Amino acid sequence: MCIATALKHLHREEQVLISARASKPVTVVLSFWGKGGVGKTTLSSSLAVRLAERGYRTLLISTDFVPSLGDVLGLEVPPRPTKVAENLYAEQLTEDSIIELWKQRFGEEVYRVASSIFPVGREVIDYVAGAPGIVEEFALYYVYERARSSGYDFLVWDTMATGGGLRMLRIEKEFYDHLGDAVKMYLKVKGVIEKIRTGAADPLELIESWRKLAHDVLEFLRSSSHRAFLVARPMYVDLQVARRVYQELLSFGIPLGGLFLNMHIREQPYLEVEEEYRKFLPQGFPIFTVPLLSRSPRGLEELRRLLSDVPVEELVQTGRA
Ligand SMILES: Nc1ncnc2c1ncn2[C@@H]1O[C@H](COP(=O)(O)OP(=O)(O)O)[C@@H](O)[C@H]1O
Ligand SMILES: [Mg+2]
Repeated sequence: MCIATALKHLHREEQVLISARASKPVTVVLSFWGKGGVGKTTLSSSLAVRLAERGYRTLLISTDFVPSLGDVLGLEVPPRPTKVAENLYAEQLTEDSIIELWKQRFGEEVYRVASSIFPVGREVIDYVAGAPGIVEEFALYYVYERARSSGYDFLVWDTMATGGGLRMLRIEKEFYDHLGDAVKMYLKVKGVIEKIRTGAADPLELIESWRKLAHDVLEFLRSSSHRAFLVARPMYVDLQVARRVYQELLSFGIPLGGLFLNMHIREQPYLEVEEEYRKFLPQGFPIFTVPLLSRSPRGLEELRRLLSDVPVEELVQTGRA
């Protein structure tokens, strides 16, 4: 075979590969947001169980660094996807595991950028890994990577409590803006840096690649492959918090799939508070009510029953829209 034919051949194979990749269905991420104790871990686990039961390959990830997924599922859940039932995988990230993953993914790049500007050693990796906001920001990136590359139909994401969850979004946005400034700053002082720098790597490319990544993560969260669900109880303070979270998610342009009104009792004053929720949500916004049980729902069977009144197919359609 002559070189030209071989190249053509390669080109065709490449095209087949690219089109196969393009037609691969994307993982839909369903995330849960709300203050601590409203039922995010319980409901995300319950939804994951129901999706898996319907034959969807599902990954349940908790990025809440106060781990409780294992307690809710009644199983050991390590910080890597672990099969817990047919079609169901679970993963509990911890602060330590995420710092370790961050170092593996970005440690070397950070060292290259830092050492090309300043005379620093590899200890800079640990220093940056411990910087405020790194774990939250990386949790977002991690979920994004999992959704893009692991072939699940659904990724059900138990985020951290409101404060941490929203902070994670703000940091990603700030990181993105900040890296834009970093590039400008770098270009300004480039002449000076060139004279003193020791490393050979051009940090500009790396900084640009981080900025693009931050942009892609935010775009992914804003895309139709992601749906955020609010979780709250029919109580006044929860109502106020849910209203703020709702506004903030909207301001980020994140698509919302509905509100889970958890620990609901179908009597007054809870029904009245339910009405108050309806007032700040747009008409037709899905509200799924989940009853208050007399004890913590635990284990796969109880979790399956907890959302038995919720039309999961409908919810899935919203997620796929
Ligand atoms: N529908 C429910 N009925 C009774 N207890 C519930 C219900 N949903 C959650 N719980 C309990 O409420 C507490 C908080 O739930 P959890 O899922 O840990 O909330 P979060 O993850 O938002 O902090 C847990 O003890 C959990 O077992
Ligand atoms: Mg939780």
